Amino acid sequence: MSSHGADTFNPSQTRQSAVNLKLLQQMFERGEPITMLTAYDATFAAEADRAGLDCLLVGDSLGMVCEGRASTLGVSMQTMCDHTASVARGLANSKNGAWLIADMPFGSYQEGSEQAFRNAALLMESGAQMVKLEGGQWTPKTVSFLVERGIPVCAHLGLTPQSVSALGGYKVQAREDAAAVQLMQDAHDLQDAGATLLVLELIPHALATKVTQALKTCATIGIGAGNGTAGQVLVVHDMLGLNLTGGKSPKFVKNFLHGQDGIQSAMKAYVQAVKTRAYPDNALHAW
Ligand code: KIV
Repeated sequence: MSSHGADTFNPSQTRQSAVNLKLLQQMFERGEPITMLTAYDATFAAEADRAGLDCLLVGDSLGMVCEGRASTLGVSMQTMCDHTASVARGLANSKNGAWLIADMPFGSYQEGSEQAFRNAALLMESGAQMVKLEGGQWTPKTVSFLVERGIPVCAHLGLTPQSVSALGGYKVQAREDAAAVQLMQDAHDLQDAGATLLVLELIPHALATKVTQALKTCATIGIGAGNGTAGQVLVVHDMLGLNLTGGKSPKFVKNFLHGQDGIQSAMKAYVQAVKTRAYPDNALHAW
């Protein structure tokens, strides 16, 4: 289905070694979907690793799901480092070697490359193997500064929750032609800057597929972006049907606990559904 050979992936193949940058690149090239969930503590991290997740993201979404905030703004560097260290301890006896990514919180990289490096280094010292930062246009310079200094980077375009005030809410992005063209340009610039992964959040599935096919060395990870991306990520609370406000979940979320006997089975069902591209279903979970 993609230029990266998704048609040829055999879901019975299992990973033989811990995830690293080379393996992520190989998975992208052979069209094997990359599975990612958020994790915020040691026990959930160990469960997710045993379920076979390729990547765990200590997302700043923890500000909402763990701390009860209305947005991710307000999450501190100290909090991100503490949760990253907890997740890293949960992976200490890992059999499957999930790759650990930590979000750079709002205010920790916007001043420029030096500030970004200082804070990214704190996350790496806490156990992260890669850091994630949001935004296009002004971020590639920072990305190349980090990559040149040995810090792998995951970029993030589309709905970037740290800019929720500027974006006017949590809505689908890049529907208009000009915004889609800009997003494609940003994706190329971030790839050229050395980003290995690129989260695409809440954008039309046709655009996410086009970006995925256009990139060569940077694998896209979709959330609310349809099933044409190189991988998928969900907030773990969402895929377990946990909802702080009791309100409706976003359309792109599926509750993987339905029909399962526990959290690990739900995570395994998610891995299987992503690896076989059964989830997300563009008819149900995309726009
Ligand atoms: O903070 C987070 O959990 C994220 C994912 C939703 C991609 O950025």
